[in-house]
Parts: sequence; C-alpha cells; structure tokens
Amino acid sequence: MDREQWGSRWGFVLAAVGSAIGLGNIWRFPYVAYKNGGGAFLIPYMFALLTTGLSFVALEFVIGKKYRGSAPLSYFRINRRMEFVGWWQFAISFVIMTYYAVILGWAMSYIGFSATLAWGTDTKSFLFNSYLNVLPNASVTNFGGIEWHAFIPLLIIWVITLAISYRGVKQGIERVSKIAIPTLVFLFLIFVIRAVTLPGSSLGLNAFFEPQWNQLLNPEIWKAAYSQIFYSLSLAMGIMITYSSYLPEKTDTTNNAFIAAFSNSGFELLAGFGIFAALGFMAHNSGVAVKDLAAGGIGLAFVVLPQIINQLPFPQFFGIVFFACLLIAGITSLISLLEVCISAATEKFGWDRHRAVLTIGGLATLVSVAYSTRGGMYLLDVVDNFVNGFGVLPSAVFEIVLVLWVFHKMKPLMEEANLHSQIRLGGYFKISLGFITPVMLVIILFSSLITNIS
Ligand code: PHE
Repeated sequence: MDREQWGSRWGFVLAAVGSAIGLGNIWRFPYVAYKNGGGAFLIPYMFALLTTGLSFVALEFVIGKKYRGSAPLSYFRINRRMEFVGWWQFAISFVIMTYYAVILGWAMSYIGFSATLAWGTDTKSFLFNSYLNVLPNASVTNFGGIEWHAFIPLLIIWVITLAISYRGVKQGIERVSKIAIPTLVFLFLIFVIRAVTLPGSSLGLNAFFEPQWNQLLNPEIWKAAYSQIFYSLSLAMGIMITYSSYLPEKTDTTNNAFIAAFSNSGFELLAGFGIFAALGFMAHNSGVAVKDLAAGGIGLAFVVLPQIINQLPFPQFFGIVFFACLLIAGITSLISLLEVCISAATEKFGWDRHRAVLTIGGLATLVSVAYSTRGGMYLLDVVDNFVNGFGVLPSAVFEIVLVLWVFHKMKPLMEEANLHSQIRLGGYFKISLGFITPVMLVIILFSSLITNIS
C-alpha cells in the first residue's frame, strides 16, 4: 500500500501549524505565563523556544520524512529497541485526546450560549452548576451521572473529527487545515484588535508583562516554560513525526520547521496580548485586580471571558468570534493527536484507515465520556497535570538521548535535512539539541522531583 502524501508544501505547513496552534495557545499560555513570573516568564520561554523548540521541530520533521513511518515505526527503523518510545507517545496522544475533545465540546456549546448570552451575569455558577452540573462536593472519586448538556456537544466534536480523519491526509486533514487556519487568524485578529482598543487594556498588558525577576531563579518557571514549548509545538508526542512522514522526499524540512515554530509562538504571544488586554478592561470596569481575574485555568476562558463579553458592545458577536477561535484552533489539534494513533495502528495491525479511525475514535469517544460526568472536570484536571508533568518531558528526554546519542543519528539526520534545505543545520543544532536541551530537561525533571518530594 502506498503511503499517503500531502498535496502541497503549504498544505503540510498549515496542517502542522494547525496542530501546534490549539487550546494551548489561547487558553493555556496566558495563564501559565502570568502565573510563572509574567514578563519574566518570557525569558525562559524564549530561551526554550530558541534552544529547544526550533531545533526539536526540525528534528521531528526530518525523522518523519526520512523514516516515513508513524512514531513507533520511525523509531523502530532507527533501532528496534526504540519502538517503545513511539508507543509511549501514542499513549500520551491518546490520553490527551480524550479530554481535549471535552473542552472543545464546551467551546462549541459556548458558541451557542454567546448567541443568547445564556450565561447571564453569574458566569461561574452558570459553568459549574447549570452547564456542567458539578456536584457541590464533587471530586475525582465522586462521580455523578452523565451530564447530557456536555455530552451531546462532545459527541458532535467526535463525529466531526472522525469524519475529517476518515477522508485521509490530503482530502481530510489538509483540506480542512487550508480553510481553518486562515479563518482562525482572521477571527482571532478581530478579537485581539477589539481587546487592545478597550479602555483599561493597558492595565492588563502591564500586569502581564510586569517582570517578577526574582522568579527567574525558580526552577518551576523553567519547567513551566519548557512544558509550554513542548505542549504548544505538539512535540515529543509523535505528532510532528507522523505529519512529516507524509512528506515527499525532496522537502525542505528545516525551513518548514522554522515557519511552523515562529507562527505558533507569534500566535501565542498575540493570544497573551488579547486575553490580558481584555482582563485589563474588566479590571478597569469592575475594580477587581487583574491578578485576581487571571487566576484559574479553565475559568479564564469559560468564566471570566463571558463576563468580559457581557460588557462589550455587540457582545453576541464577540462571544461567537472568541469561542469559534477556540473551537477551530482545537479541532485542527485534535485531528493531529488522533492521527498519531491512526497511523501507528494501521502500520502495526495492518488495518486500513477507515477501520483504524472507527476503532480508535470509538474507543476515545467512550473514554472521554468519563469527563462528561458530574465531577468529570476534576478528573480532567488531574489527568492533564499528570500527562503533562510525567509523560511529555521524560518522553522528550528519551527521544533525543536515544536518537542522537545512543543510536548516533545526529549526523545522518542533519545530512538528510541539509540535502534539500536553504537553512543548513550545523553547530547550533548540534549544541542546542545534543547538549543544551537534554541538560536542561534533566535538571528540570530532577529539581521538580526534589521539590515535589520535599
Ligand atoms: N499543540 C496544541 C495546543 O497547543 C495541541 C496539543 C496539545 C498537542 C497537547 C499535543 C498535546 O493546544
């Protein structure tokens, strides 16, 4: 069976950017940055982007293109003892996918709620009590029944996602990305421009960028910056390897990697501007400090933003724009998480795409139901922290140490990349990936282990 291929270079780049830009950029980045030192966070963030993110994307693109397989198969072709890293990444992608879809289901419902401003003035109790129906004493061990308001949109999200994947790489993923990404950028610019022109926006931006320099020595903010880079660029989860395995032989992977990484971070910073400008507006109106408004991850998008939207002229319009952005950004990422599992399953078990989409998609749909119960939200938070804390960074360490050091693929991979590239990988790539990245990751993992134990 011939391997599927992207129809064009831009099709691939847009799909990769579509994977990278997701909930992580709009919903996660602003509060992670704010919580970890504000303006001072941007230093470890930029450091991680420049010494790890860029080269890591270039590495994954060239691995996929050279070994032309899903993550497990590509690693197997590097050395059969490496296959397990691919299955680890498969597992991470699967787990993330099951709760990622749930948040997208919420975003979809919120597009509907925007039209009528159904969330009223008490948006917090709307989210928790009316919409999610969270039990008063809910916790991870205390589930209630299925919450249908949240379950139906979740099912719709799965149907859309599976339908796109079902049609294949070129007819499905590529076609959707080519429409979705330009639409997303357009809508998001409307949101950001509106936000920064609101009265009080500078209050929010000042709070966001105000550097807490003393935080720079705190290993936790370095950990947060690296995690954000991996999460946001969809790295060490097999995603970029899978996508680039559908590239034709003569592709400039390095150049594409730079475009993808910089577009993603550009979008992310823009999201920080937009969200904090909006928070500044709310602080200006309500007298509540930006710092108090910004606390709380899930609440930021689904509690605080609706409150802000309520106070805008044409609130319905801006509500729909904002939640449509979340939805579009998230769907193109969900497709990429699913693709990791589909391509691995088709190769390992000899299934065709349709069977893989239905089996894995069906299973993921079933698992994700657990988060649509009363109390499921607590589970979501626990699982999110767990996979990101224990799954992704160790996976990254295994990936580079095994590929580059143990199985000595630095040179052949660089040669492969340089064969068709305008940008040559050289000393910078060697030092950043072969040395700085593993050293930083190991220090971060150990210091967070020590702080968590003590
Ligand atoms: N990178 C995307 C985001 O920022 C999607 C993603 C999230 C991919 C988590 C992998 C893991 O949301």
